[in-house]
Amino acid sequence: MFEEANRLRAERGDDAVADLSLGNPYNEPPAAFFEHLKRESELRTGLRHRYMTNSGYPDVRARMAQHLAGRTGLPYTQEHVCMTGGAAGALNVVLRVLLEPGDEVVLVSPSFVEYPFYIENFGGVPCVVPCRADFIPDADRIADACTANTRAVILNAPNNPTGRIYPERFWQDLGRALAGRSAAMSRPIYLLFDDPYYHIYYTENAPPEPSRFYDQTIYISSFSKDLGLAGERIGYLAIHPDAAAREDLQRAMPFALRALGQVSAPATMQRAAAALVDEPRDAVRAFYRKRRDRVEEALQAIGLDTPPLEGGFYAFPKSPEADDMVFCRRMLDEGLIVVPGSAFAAPGRFRMSYSVDMEVLERGLEILKRSV
Ligand SMILES: Cc1ncc(COP(=O)(O)O)c(C=O)c1O
Repeated sequence: MFEEANRLRAERGDDAVADLSLGNPYNEPPAAFFEHLKRESELRTGLRHRYMTNSGYPDVRARMAQHLAGRTGLPYTQEHVCMTGGAAGALNVVLRVLLEPGDEVVLVSPSFVEYPFYIENFGGVPCVVPCRADFIPDADRIADACTANTRAVILNAPNNPTGRIYPERFWQDLGRALAGRSAAMSRPIYLLFDDPYYHIYYTENAPPEPSRFYDQTIYISSFSKDLGLAGERIGYLAIHPDAAAREDLQRAMPFALRALGQVSAPATMQRAAAALVDEPRDAVRAFYRKRRDRVEEALQAIGLDTPPLEGGFYAFPKSPEADDMVFCRRMLDEGLIVVPGSAFAAPGRFRMSYSVDMEVLERGLEILKRSV
């Protein structure tokens, strides 16, 4: 997509193109991030940039644990946490630990396009279960898709690409269903809850916490989106305090970081994450809310049905042409870059990101309006 956008811009000029294809954060990191870096840059002693224990600095992990304990009421400690190179790094570490070749991992459609690649990195087999028509998954259908070979289910909400937040009721049902299925198979099915958009929500309350409803949850998050630090590669994973084989998992995660050549999460960014983990996120929510409201209004005016824009920074409207690939190709000719739903195993839709400049967003909406 980066290449396609660059090609179009070179051909037609910046003003003729609206690239709404990427999930690249458009928010600058908060002032506290730069203040933190300034203070860091003044410290010239203390060997602060060497290798550290693979799972990350103990005090940084303790801060992540404290943050999660505050949100969930669960007794997370630094032992449960491993710092990683973003959520993508964390997912690969966890899958490296859990999977043997041939093991299955259940995904829902639509979901993040990279999951199948991560699973296949370790010889795993993705099993895709479609969401309901409202883009909320069905807990029983997920449980039904779990076989004796299933090691994990990966879910993400606020969701990329749909913008939906899954309700607490769904997580309760899923927890019950997966506990039943794990018991029937005599081994745990882990829930990998991928949560990089947690702080970017437009609902009255923060999104529900799945780990409250299922002990076998491995929580994964990052500072890529909410703090605008995607290029700095900082995130973490946290094993549920009551997870089966928790101590083995705790030992295995830092080993997987080594085996994958990640070694550890970047030192300076770990300290920045600890300094910022509890920083208020009102400004980032307001930043995206302005864009979200504009997209909602424009899609309504154009008459394109879209799931409720509850969180993250994507909309997933119905494609005006039955074939979403044909529609997205036509939009490309018009200068608008959006992603076909087929890329997310959800044909008949397209994803547009509103993590862009307002001017680019307006240009994109204008192209959409005149082409539909
Ligand atoms: C659902 C989802 N998970 C994980 C990632 C990867 O995030 P990170 O930059 O923290 O690796 C993304 C990035 O777009 C995403 O949308």
